[in-house]
Amino acid sequence: MRRAPGDPKASEITPESLWLDRRSFLKAAGLAAAAALSPRLVGAADFAGGEKPTPLDSITAYNNFYEFGTDKESPARYAPKYLKPHPWSVKVEGLVGKPKTWSIEELSKVFPSQERIYRLRCVEAWSAVIPWNGFPLSALLKKAEPKAKAKYVAFQTLYDPKQMPGQNESVLQWPYVEGLRLDEAMHDLTLLATGIYGKPMPAQDGAPIRLVVPWKYGFKSIKSIVSIKLVESQPPTSWNISAPPEYGFYSNVNPEHDHPRWSQSTERRLGELFKRKTLMFNGYSTEVASLYKGMDLDANY
Ligand code: MTE
Repeated sequence: MRRAPGDPKASEITPESLWLDRRSFLKAAGLAAAAALSPRLVGAADFAGGEKPTPLDSITAYNNFYEFGTDKESPARYAPKYLKPHPWSVKVEGLVGKPKTWSIEELSKVFPSQERIYRLRCVEAWSAVIPWNGFPLSALLKKAEPKAKAKYVAFQTLYDPKQMPGQNESVLQWPYVEGLRLDEAMHDLTLLATGIYGKPMPAQDGAPIRLVVPWKYGFKSIKSIVSIKLVESQPPTSWNISAPPEYGFYSNVNPEHDHPRWSQSTERRLGELFKRKTLMFNGYSTEVASLYKGMDLDANY
């Protein structure tokens, strides 16, 4: 079931335990009745088909964040220790009429936080259901007034080996970079996330601000962003630089296009035993399939 995106203030966001209770309560009471009782309770917009969110401790204990090591446990161990997410600013630059360097505080003042539950599917065939807090990237891009020549958006993570010790290793080219076509970036599902479960973004999940593109493999959702640049041609992306035949620019979740080394047809939710079928565009076909009309998705993987 899908509800309209809410618009809760930070003070209205509920702690995790209450939040889960609230969800079962809402389910039991019936959403319409609950909404009539207290519209403010219905803050989260569910884009995950009513599925139960993955517990917070799984989302914060099993991560990919190569700036802190290549195994799944290192980000939780090292990111909170080394990463300083305050003060932080994000530059919006390139082919825009109004370039601007935004502090995180300014961003949260100008763009009210919404709570949105998305499925996230990693290229390694694990997945999660995550209640994000954030705002649509489109709102920020519109403020910057993209010029007609702008066709793509290039994102960059912080480069600072003192705060990100993994950048001393040459496992990837640093800083981590990602990109979207402008229409993908402007799509309402594309989120700049500043929190999960109503809490500020944990360091290992990409504090203080990260991208979330729920119909693409998880690696497109670049963490700890410092630059968003509007550009004319397709920007380089970290995993494509690293292994072009394995990771393309689009990287839409596609059960029919296997990774050269493994199948992409099934996945396992964090914390679950059994695999489930992977859905085209991670289940967001209705929303996004039109972006790729007429494109050969095998060639544009
Ligand atoms: N962003 C940066 N800067 N560095 C990374 O190593 N890993 C990506 C993506 N964003 C990564 C990154 C990958 S491979 C995935 S699957 C997701 O983050 C994982 O997000 P999560 O750890 O919050 O689940």
